[in-house]
Amino acid sequence: MPRRFKITVIGAGNVGATAAHWAAARELGDVVLLDIAEGIPQGKGLDLYEASPVYGFDSRITGTNDYADSADSDVVIITAGLARKPGMSRDDLLAKNAGIVGGCAKSAAEKSPNAVIVVVSNPLDAMCHVALKASGFPKNRVVGMAGILDTARYRAFLAEAANVSVKDIQAMVLGGHGDTMVPIVSTTNVSGVPITTLIPQDKLDAIVERTRKGGIEIVNHLKTGSAYYAPSAGAVQMAEAILKDQRRVLPCTALCEGEFGIKGLYVGVPVILGKNGVETIIDMPLDDQEKKDLANSAAAVQGLVDTLAKL
Ligand code: NAI
Ligand code: 2OP
Repeated sequence: MPRRFKITVIGAGNVGATAAHWAAARELGDVVLLDIAEGIPQGKGLDLYEASPVYGFDSRITGTNDYADSADSDVVIITAGLARKPGMSRDDLLAKNAGIVGGCAKSAAEKSPNAVIVVVSNPLDAMCHVALKASGFPKNRVVGMAGILDTARYRAFLAEAANVSVKDIQAMVLGGHGDTMVPIVSTTNVSGVPITTLIPQDKLDAIVERTRKGGIEIVNHLKTGSAYYAPSAGAVQMAEAILKDQRRVLPCTALCEGEFGIKGLYVGVPVILGKNGVETIIDMPLDDQEKKDLANSAAAVQGLVDTLAKL
């Protein structure tokens, strides 16, 4: 009998616990929820498992502080890390989370040498570099989640403005996960109808701006943390594409080596996501402004990676 897939989620906070919830409810496989905090993953894992008879999902959920329980995972989702607090600089966060993500990636890779790692912790693009180095994995098996979240926000705002189903909005947001991200308006469409047919330019410009600031909009509401429903849904969509070898075309953070003119840098780009992780980066045509914006976004990511190298 073929064994079930195994998904380890590192970090049992808001994003990690919600990712475990989506993954178990979709019966993607057995889920291991791992955190440094004693009791939290055990409590949340048991609580989630006890929900399974109600919704009828056959997934075992194990909460743990021990990487031995994560052995032979097919996908490892890393959500461990700190969110920025008052008085902390961006560089402080970079240094702290680099230490956390590096440790998690190394320990996870030792126990699950064939896994695909999906990085979620921020600053996302830089943390992908950390996970790649610490895991020793090939570049296709270390991939970041941000583009699905940024694109989901963009699609949700577009659907609302055009008064159509979110299902029919086709779009991609590329670039780094920050203010410089690049919604690709030139190819955005509603079931093949160009978006400019349904939404006037000024409204479209406002939606692009709102998308770029989508993360802080949620922080301003919550005050004590950042978004987690949409981010965890994005991470689990990636896990599903990998586990089921769906070859989904999704905006993911992948190591570019010449694609879009970007060299040696993790940036959000369209990829085919399948059993090997990033199967291909799709070097799609962009208009001149989008090319400039993507280069500008890559330069912002490079700045963080340079800071990382000096730590
Ligand atoms: P949270 O604070 O709710 O959870 C973080 C968890 O990580 C905590 O339970 C903590 O105990 C755990 N942790 C800390 N050090 C650890 C270690 N060494 N090993 C294992 N676990 C450890 O934070 P939340 O909201 O879940 O966010 C997690 C990360 O994801 C943050 O860095 C956040 O900025 C990032 N994020 C990224 C998004 C993206 O689009 N890429 C979207 C949303 C959040
Ligand atoms: C977001 O975009 C915090 O990166 C996170 O919501």
